[in-house]
Amino acid sequence: MTKPFNLLLVAMLTIAAWCSASAETIAVIGTGNVGGALGPRFSELGHDIIYGSRQPQREDVQALVSKTHGNAQAMIPAEAAAAADVIVMATKWADAEVALKSLGDLSGKIILDPNNAVRMDANGMRHLDVETSAAELIQGWAPNARVVKAFNTLGAGIMANPASAGGPVTIAIAGNDASAKAVIAGLVTGIGFEVVDMGDLSAARFIEQMLIARGNAGALGTPFNYYFRPAR
Ligand SMILES: NC(=O)c1ccc[n+]([C@@H]2O[C@H](COP(=O)([O-])OP(=O)(O)OC[C@H]3O[C@@H](n4cnc5c(N)ncnc54)[C@H](OP(=O)(O)O)[C@@H]3O)[C@@H](O)[C@H]2O)c1
Repeated sequence: MTKPFNLLLVAMLTIAAWCSASAETIAVIGTGNVGGALGPRFSELGHDIIYGSRQPQREDVQALVSKTHGNAQAMIPAEAAAAADVIVMATKWADAEVALKSLGDLSGKIILDPNNAVRMDANGMRHLDVETSAAELIQGWAPNARVVKAFNTLGAGIMANPASAGGPVTIAIAGNDASAKAVIAGLVTGIGFEVVDMGDLSAARFIEQMLIARGNAGALGTPFNYYFRPAR
């Protein structure tokens, strides 16, 4: 073999090894707005997606499987979670505790938490409906899992199509486990967003308030998306 060909072969094998090492099986629990946006996007990165649905044979769930790349499947939530390295908890917040506790042993698994616990006041303004954060409550319900807050500060339409934001969008993340945060940061940047690490999971309190601020500004007629311009 000629030298350039050898080099090309080594480069291809390295890329193939890197891709297979970093390919995850991702369970997406919930097939609504967020699950239906993130599942197909993460599949574009080469990850295998398993939707966890209470009705995996439902027509809309099977349509979602069909538009997801790779070896996409749908199963009941506990089976999906058992087969996955990363679990996206994309149920409504009101259903999150029941859904999470139905998943079985989550020790060591990464939980991506995009949830917002929001209540509206009489004036239509949003407030956080938890004393700490949704992320810390999820960590308490699954103490041996590695929870990472992410994807709660933007709409599902932008998750599905970042270009629709009309410019760059930053996603703030937080979590206690550095390697879990690195995996989630890779998903964030892989599908076209900027990422900023805000610290340990208690920083989810600020990140969840970011959604409140964004929602209320939108209600007052000044909608925006978050973009953090790096300081020199
Ligand atoms: N919508 C957004 O733009 C957006 C953006 C950022 C963050 N968030 C947050 O993300 C979370 C999900 O929001 P969403 O808009 O995607 O909600 P959604 O459209 O209502 O979807 C929720 C899904 O949860 C599943 N589900 C309900 N109960 C369940 C249970 N006990 N076990 C397993 N699955 C269950 C259902 O799927 P099956 O019927 O297939 O089981 C349902 O499709 C919320 O906390 C929301 O605040 C939403």
